[in-house]
Amino acid sequence: MKRPVTLCATSLFAATLTMSAADTIDFGDDIYPIIRGSCIGCHSAPYEDTRGRIKTPKGGLRLDTPEWIQKGYMNDENEQEFVIVAGDAEASTFYTTTILPEDHDDIMPAKGDPLTKAQTDTIKAWIHQGADYGDFVAPEFIHPKSKAAAE
Ligand code: HEC
Repeated sequence: MKRPVTLCATSLFAATLTMSAADTIDFGDDIYPIIRGSCIGCHSAPYEDTRGRIKTPKGGLRLDTPEWIQKGYMNDENEQEFVIVAGDAEASTFYTTTILPEDHDDIMPAKGDPLTKAQTDTIKAWIHQGADYGDFVAPEFIHPKSKAAAE
């Protein structure tokens, strides 16, 4: 009689562990790599390119650090627009622009491969969990098309 009970408790415990590990999204481990891979090329700090032109972030939106992500951008009426509403992915353009149809004008990333379903689901879950950045500090990003990168 003892053995099945022990087994059952063990597998329950294991299931609980697996669930919590998979369910808690970490900004640094899970979200930042998506930004770095698919967004930062257009949404980083202004930089000087190899021809001496200053390139500014697309749409005036920087996504390179938690602080900038939380600032959002200024719209045409010079009003601040937030791209993330903590707890509400459907109201967050940081998420909604990534799930548009591939041929939609507003899909993000604006060029290149769309995000995978696994990636957009991760973003959605992270926002629903409160869009917490933890103690993440963004590493330095030198734009590959910048003069600094060419030197
Ligand atoms: C190839 C360049 C490019 C890439 C890569 C890119 N964006 Fe953008 N993004 C733009 C441009 C251009 C705009 C401004 C669009 C406009 O003003 O109509 C923009 C605007 C935005 C906006 C504000 C627009 C709105 O509707 O609220 C969000 C949010 C955004 N991008 C998120 C992302 C995310 C998230 C990624 C990565 C998954 C990403 N972008 C990757 C070019 C890019």
